[in-house]
Amino acid sequence: MDSNKTIVFITGASGGIGFETASLFATISSYHVIVGARSIEKGEKAVSEIKSQKPQGTISFVQIDVTDDKSINDAAAAVEKDFGRVDVLINNAGIISHAESLRGQLRETFETNTIGAAVVSQTFSPLLLSSQKAKMINISSGLGSITLTLDPKSPYYKAPAPAYMMSKAAMNMLTAYESARLGDQGVKVWSYCPGYVVTNLTGTGEKGVQERIARGAKSPKESADGLLAIVEGKRDADVGMFLHKDGIYGW
Ligand SMILES: NC(=O)c1ccc[n+]([C@@H]2O[C@H](COP(=O)([O-])OP(=O)(O)OC[C@H]3O[C@@H](n4cnc5c(N)ncnc54)[C@H](OP(=O)(O)O)[C@@H]3O)[C@@H](O)[C@H]2O)c1
Repeated sequence: MDSNKTIVFITGASGGIGFETASLFATISSYHVIVGARSIEKGEKAVSEIKSQKPQGTISFVQIDVTDDKSINDAAAAVEKDFGRVDVLINNAGIISHAESLRGQLRETFETNTIGAAVVSQTFSPLLLSSQKAKMINISSGLGSITLTLDPKSPYYKAPAPAYMMSKAAMNMLTAYESARLGDQGVKVWSYCPGYVVTNLTGTGEKGVQERIARGAKSPKESADGLLAIVEGKRDADVGMFLHKDGIYGW
């Protein structure tokens, strides 16, 4: 493989925003996309679907369950062996929990959205530090903005999703922490809200998809466009911040 290619590793790329992002980057010849997915079957299916579109870039698969330390370590070792570095880490894997109790929702949601992203960042940071142009993008949500949660004019004011909101607020602290830890070693770090888009995030299949469409959700291709803009340097002035497609959110 051309060693000048930009190596992009995306967690949770078997569907939704992660898949659309992998598809978009793979259309560009200067990228190699590593699809990270917890299911081997879904990950390999995603890669073959993208390959069937005859992309200009290249693509491969690595199994990763962000709630499992061994899986994270094995994924980092596989990427190290094959590529020796990661230029762009996108912490995208995320869930909304349907556990019955608030305690259960908090535990499930934090395990994936926050703890998972933190451990992936820590484990993959040596690979980022081996890159000359390293970027880390944490896929957050406007629902994680403390500023918007306290703003009666915001659509997120009184949003009924405490576990998800707290998990993304904590992820934003991960962004700040990693930006401070790695920024002076050349790693650019952002949180990015991908917008309200049509995916299976609620885990309710076609019903959830139709609800999102009815509420005006956009295409996840728009989220992918925003991520490409960040990676291509168009948001460098806002490094270390909490971005959305058209601007910056308050933390
Ligand atoms: N959709 C929106 O409107 C929206 C808005 C703001 C933020 N976001 C954020 O965007 C990110 C992507 O979500 P999405 O909307 O694209 O939802 P999605 O279609 O449900 O995709 C989520 C992806 O994460 C993967 N995943 C879940 N748990 C995982 C784990 N333990 N290890 C590895 N992968 C795991 C899923 O894999 P499986 O296929 O195996 O389940 C799936 O590929 C999330 O962080 C979400 O919070 C979404």
